[in-house]
Amino acid sequence: MATRKKRTKRTWRTAANSDRHELYELAVQGTESDCTFIDRVYRQLRHTTPHTLREDFCGTGLMAREWVKWRPTNQAVGIDLDDKVLRRGREKISHLAAASRKRVLLKKGDVNRVKTAPSDVVVALNFSYFLFRTREQLREYFINARNNVRTGGIMVVDAYGGSGSWSLGEEDRSLDGFTYVWHQAKVSPITHDVTNHIHFRFPDGSEMRRAFTYVWRLWTLPEIKELLIEAGFKRPVVYWEGTERKTGKGNGVFKPSRLGEACTGWIVYIVAEN
Ligand SMILES: C[S@@+](CC[C@H](N)C(=O)[O-])C[C@H]1O[C@@H](n2cnc3c(N)ncnc32)[C@H](O)[C@@H]1O
Repeated sequence: MATRKKRTKRTWRTAANSDRHELYELAVQGTESDCTFIDRVYRQLRHTTPHTLREDFCGTGLMAREWVKWRPTNQAVGIDLDDKVLRRGREKISHLAAASRKRVLLKKGDVNRVKTAPSDVVVALNFSYFLFRTREQLREYFINARNNVRTGGIMVVDAYGGSGSWSLGEEDRSLDGFTYVWHQAKVSPITHDVTNHIHFRFPDGSEMRRAFTYVWRLWTLPEIKELLIEAGFKRPVVYWEGTERKTGKGNGVFKPSRLGEACTGWIVYIVAEN
């Protein structure tokens, strides 16, 4: 994570002076950990370093930007439908060092339609692919994604679950001058359709309500693994997060697991080979 400057009272964040995409990047994304994880797994599987990465559902392209900063030989392409977020991402890219800037590209389009040169790694992170709500749609996405992974490359997605993901309510986390609120607003045990919101709250009492809303299918891990295989990927493996002994919280180290652990909330990576 980037070092965060201590804020003085004068510069406190408020709903009026904050940008929801910046807050999202700070609260939700952990791109350094993602890069570390990808490097480690790729080395274990392929005994070499990955260089090319495609970020599907890239939003502001934070992962793509991080990837090109990560190694001077890295290249990244990000795909998103939304012109507005892409504009923000390109503006951020314009502030990168010249050597990094020329190795990253954000493209507008549907992840299912935009074909790119096969990459070592294709990622779909922060559960973005949950927006596909039928098996047919998710299989089609994985088939298209596989066409953008080079032979021998990998697909990396994440997923969340646990007993807590089936209940309604809010969970908050205090961050640098604002509070991130994850709100599970609707959950259907029959369809597995869920509606989640992200709200941001500020020290002056102001709030950015429903800064982001996600209407998703909460996919289970066996379903995701099955669909990756149906799409032609090999050996989908779930990487489960270890636990810190003292706090009982996740330790940020993800290792292959066959059974996982019954807990109230978990986030995993799933890696599949092409
Ligand atoms: C939750 S954000 C993901 C942001 C970021 N990649 C992350 O890891 O947090 C989901 C993004 O997917 C984009 N999106 C939704 N459907 C898409 C599609 N079919 N093709 C490309 N982008 C899509 C939205 O515009 C949005 O920016």
